Amino acid sequence: MSHNLFVGCGNMGSAMVAGWLLANENPGDYTALRPSGRSVPGIRTIQRLGEIDRAPDRLILGFKPQQLRALAPDVARWVTRDTMIVSMLAGADVATLGRLFPGARAIVRVMPNLPVAVRRGVLPLYTPAHEDKALQAELQPWFSMLGFAPWCASEEEFGAIGFVAGSTPAYVARFIDAFAKAGEGRGLDPGLALTAAREAVLGSAWLGATTGEPMAELARRVTSPNGTTEAGLKVLDADLPGLVDRTLAAATRRSAEMAAEIRGEPLQ
Ligand SMILES: NC(=O)c1ccc[n+]([C@@H]2O[C@H](COP(=O)([O-])OP(=O)(O)OC[C@H]3O[C@@H](n4cnc5c(N)ncnc54)[C@H](OP(=O)(O)O)[C@@H]3O)[C@@H](O)[C@H]2O)c1
Repeated sequence: MSHNLFVGCGNMGSAMVAGWLLANENPGDYTALRPSGRSVPGIRTIQRLGEIDRAPDRLILGFKPQQLRALAPDVARWVTRDTMIVSMLAGADVATLGRLFPGARAIVRVMPNLPVAVRRGVLPLYTPAHEDKALQAELQPWFSMLGFAPWCASEEEFGAIGFVAGSTPAYVARFIDAFAKAGEGRGLDPGLALTAAREAVLGSAWLGATTGEPMAELARRVTSPNGTTEAGLKVLDADLPGLVDRTLAAATRRSAEMAAEIRGEPLQ
């Protein structure tokens, strides 16, 4: 039985807790530190580190990356040779984490996305001890309760999967909303338009995941020659790849800036 302590448990931490509880994890194995005193449904919440009743086996960093330097000394006091640091902080690399928590048993990075709350997340994992098969075997079942949890061979690969999947719920939410608004513009009731757009996206992804077919093939099966979808795709295909590329490039630039801030380097 492990004691998992979240230091900071807001949007993402609470989503992970919800997923683990949905997977029948023991609520008594989880504690969340929230200075505001707000609760995390289903588990014990504390306001100060001094309130913990037993040393954490896994200490999950769930505050904002910009707070790392200020909070690390206090958090490090609770780190023993048996403590695993699990960091979800965007942009905080293992070298920085290793310097701040030198006594930890292991440092593991995870970049979850919001659907972890319903156990359909994508959560790439990275540890500098990635060759340590025992550590991976120990953690894999725990993370896999939340969704697709691949181990990355390098921090670069970890970052790349994070970019593809981490913000995607926000991008997909915008995409669904855009289709719903277009439906409203054509006279549909707003609730009906939103449900139709959302279910169409969910069903399409589900179908692709079930058949395993290439996305191009799924699109082909919807597209009759010279039909309506083909006419629509001509417009979408002209802009979508460039738009996605520019979107991810902006996120990548911001991530590099944040990583430099965390390392204490001056901004370019
Ligand atoms: N949101 C995402 O989709 C996403 C995806 C991947 C990774 N992440 C990472 O997850 C982390 C949290 O993001 P979030 O979206 O969950 O932010 P959030 O909702 O603002 O949560 C931040 C948490 O930090 C806590 N906190 C603030 N000051 C603290 C302090 N002095 N000591 C301890 N805890 C403190 C807050 O406490 P209160 O609850 O009491 O205010 C809150 O629980 C970030 O590092 C981010 O990079 C987020």
